[in-house]
Amino acid sequence: MKFFLDTADIGEIEKGLALGMVDGVTTNPTLIARQGKSYLPTVREIAQLVPGPVSGEVLSTELDPMLDEAHRLAELADNVVVKLPLTPPGLQAARTLTEEGIRTNVTLCFSPAQALLAAKAGATYISPFVGRLDDISEEGMALIEQIVTIYEQYSFETQVLVASVRHPMHVVDSALLGADVVTLPFKVLDKLYAHPLTDKGLAGFLADWKKTGRSFDD
Ligand code: E4P
Repeated sequence: MKFFLDTADIGEIEKGLALGMVDGVTTNPTLIARQGKSYLPTVREIAQLVPGPVSGEVLSTELDPMLDEAHRLAELADNVVVKLPLTPPGLQAARTLTEEGIRTNVTLCFSPAQALLAAKAGATYISPFVGRLDDISEEGMALIEQIVTIYEQYSFETQVLVASVRHPMHVVDSALLGADVVTLPFKVLDKLYAHPLTDKGLAGFLADWKKTGRSFDD
């Protein structure tokens, strides 16, 4: 299972890379706006920093300008994946870009029917948003289960990239369901390490050795 970081914050990306747990990065217009920086240069900067796939999203909603932006994103670096909205033009663009050999990430997926369309369009990744479904009293993880089942049934190559992840159990449940990728805010990656028994156990080991009055070499 791959871990992507869901951020446009260079500091968070550097920390994640140093931990050795980051296989790629996803951005969106909101995340880049939060950094107060220019759009394309930010995607380029992230793509140069991260060895794995970096999703950069188009801003246009009509097919022709969408394709123009997609090409400009893809030209930034070989590891840029073009993120497209799950709309009719977005899926038309996904099909065209796939035929051109450009990888795509179809975003804002909230139903199995939408995921089926994205797979038929040849998307590299589908991004179902689990947290936003939970927010409206739906079961986000049930959508992941449905998509994984449908994709396995027809051997679609589109990878399930679980997005809008809010807590560690979204990650664990995604792994149990066989999702290909989860994209995590840095704070969720950080929480994956935490367990009170780890902290308690480590404190106990160190305190017991300290009582001996000896050092590491002694
Ligand atoms: C996916 O690629 C999106 O960037 C992201 O996961 C959205 O998450 P949010 O619902 O927390 O904004």
